Amino acid sequence: MTDDRRRFEGSELIVASHNAGKISEIGDLLAPFGVASIGADALGLDEPEETGADFIANAELKARAAALATGRPALADDSGLAVDALDGAPGIYSARWAQTPDGVRDFNFAMRKVETALSQKPDAPRTARFICALSLVWPDGHAESFEGQIAGTLVWPMRGENGFGYDPVFLPLGGDLTFGEMTPQAKHAISHRADAFAQLVAGCFGG
Ligand code: IMP
Repeated sequence: MTDDRRRFEGSELIVASHNAGKISEIGDLLAPFGVASIGADALGLDEPEETGADFIANAELKARAAALATGRPALADDSGLAVDALDGAPGIYSARWAQTPDGVRDFNFAMRKVETALSQKPDAPRTARFICALSLVWPDGHAESFEGQIAGTLVWPMRGENGFGYDPVFLPLGGDLTFGEMTPQAKHAISHRADAFAQLVAGCFGG
């Protein structure tokens, strides 16, 4: 019910992320609405621990921490890959699954880990979803949250050099190319992040 959503009426929004790519992507998205975005790192804000039980809880706690620290509305996201046969894993732990025993982050390692777990269930479906939660929190604590998704299946071996994270094993439903083989433009047109942003814009921005 977008009608009941609180609209964002300001001209500046804190983006509660330390990821330069995310901050600039969100900035591009909000610019048409006359909203400037400011990254949390530029304000010296700490990143809270992601202790939520789901994507929306984690997005909300990040946005809430930034809104309370600055006294200004803040937006945060949280995303990951949910594999049906693995009961939604790696899910909110998608980045953590990439930590190798040597302490480095390696998504080839994470994709192999998913494939190894799936290969132990040869009769299970290989369906999965990318999920992206976005949460906008005002300094009075009010939150508006949205969850975007894209459904697909997992391929093996990995295909494509584009994108990041689990993109080379994710084949969107009805497509021939993995996210790793698609152009960034093609991916961004259909992704879980695009879905969440469209819901955010419809719910809280614009006329
Ligand atoms: P976070 O949202 O920054 O916590 O990132 C979660 C993790 O989910 C990322 O490090 C990636 O591993 C994975 N992930 C989220 N979105 C995508 C995507 O669009 N492609 C591939 N992997 C993704």
